[in-house]
Amino acid sequence: MGHDLDDYCAANQPRFVDELIELLRIPSISAHPDHAPDVRRNAEHLAAAAREAGFSTVEVVETEGHPAVYAERMVDPALPTVLVYGHHDVQPADPLDEWVSPPFEPEVRDGKLFARGAVDDKGQVYMHLKAVEAHLRTRGELPVNLRLLVEGEEEVGSSHFEQLVADLGDRLAADFAVVSDTGIFARGVPSLTVGLRGLAGVEVEVRGPSLDLHSGVFGGAVQNPIEALARMLASLKDPATGRVTVPGFYDDVVEPTAAEREGYRSLPFDEAAFRATAGGIPATVGEEGWSVLEARWVRPTLEINGIWGGYQGPGGKTIVPAHAGAKITCRLVPNQKPEVIANLVAGALRAATPPGVTTEVTARGGGSPVITPADHPAVRAASRAMGAVFGVEPVIIREGGSIPPVEVFQRVLGMQSVLVGVGLPDDQIHAPNEKFDLDHYAMGIRILARLWDEVAKEPA
Ligand code: BES
Ligand code: MN
Ligand code: MN
Repeated sequence: MGHDLDDYCAANQPRFVDELIELLRIPSISAHPDHAPDVRRNAEHLAAAAREAGFSTVEVVETEGHPAVYAERMVDPALPTVLVYGHHDVQPADPLDEWVSPPFEPEVRDGKLFARGAVDDKGQVYMHLKAVEAHLRTRGELPVNLRLLVEGEEEVGSSHFEQLVADLGDRLAADFAVVSDTGIFARGVPSLTVGLRGLAGVEVEVRGPSLDLHSGVFGGAVQNPIEALARMLASLKDPATGRVTVPGFYDDVVEPTAAEREGYRSLPFDEAAFRATAGGIPATVGEEGWSVLEARWVRPTLEINGIWGGYQGPGGKTIVPAHAGAKITCRLVPNQKPEVIANLVAGALRAATPPGVTTEVTARGGGSPVITPADHPAVRAASRAMGAVFGVEPVIIREGGSIPPVEVFQRVLGMQSVLVGVGLPDDQIHAPNEKFDLDHYAMGIRILARLWDEVAKEPA
């Protein structure tokens, strides 16, 4: 079974690459207001590609933010119905001068396709279109009913997603969802992801004098906002244990079971390879008592993502700056809630504010952590499809990144998701020189094509 699909995919792979390259030329950066027309153009391009692949109903759906694409091919009400989710927006591409080839001029080097969005997530969405095309061109019909929802705001927090889900109503009715926006554990070690962390963000602004002051005339008598901010930020973590010191931060954390931890210990984790993909760091850090994998998958974090204040130009400038600020995000694990954690962090920052300055904290949108069932029939179907194509049975893992819609499907629609992604740890997502290994792109298409056969065999 599946050879006809494999043959079709092999024969058409060069075209599958060329088509993806056209989609990757569109700079659909959701974070930049200037690129809003590009995000729309991207949605329209993708909608046309979905029609071309054989989806029968295709629509660009408006939201309060960037548009999404909805498509469906309903074959027979007696067949299982699957909702495929992905996103067509991408992260900003800067720093531009670190790209070997420009981020929106896709280039193949050494069997890898380099472009922003190559694997996160345009390439993996495109795998779904080509898997559908393979079924329709070889057999004339799909063995399942498919609905496709491709969002345009995932990289900026999916803030209009719940409204979009409400607007689409019955059109999202399905037995389960399939999401291809993750990676595998390592090259040659396929995996299925059953957990994603959530995200909570705050922005902090520390204000002192109403203007920058001469540091000789005023320094020594005026609280320096950058120094105050540095102390406040440093107080949020205990350097000896690596634990976050924010009161209540760990209260809602559900720890993994002993069996789950044992499973992680048996994975072929290569610390040196991890340090290499982490930009060549000389050592890892972590929270006392937890491994590197656990620190990234099952433990919450607090990260400073950006910091500003004072003079940054050439030469020196002797001032006490008027203000300083920072952006902070926390990765969350079940059952932490984004609003609760943002409030706790804000409270800790206010409490740590020294005399002579004021602190203003604003919460930024986030998303909730989610665990998906490892024993769902659709996970078994995905496991067979992956095993057949990789030639090795996939292992079960969690990931540290966030895909807020997966939790929305679970909470709002009562729908479970199967996370079937084929990215690699060295794909440099969100970073310069993002790439998608073309053999993984090809295998991803074959896996998804086979998945629909497997789902038809074992309905959820
Ligand atoms: N595809 C990623 C999430 C991801 C990355 C999952 C690696 C598993 C492994 C997604 O596009 C992403 O980057 N999400 C953001 C969400 C945020 C903006 C709310 C993230 O994790 O930072
Ligand atoms: Mn993604
Ligand atoms: Mn991303």
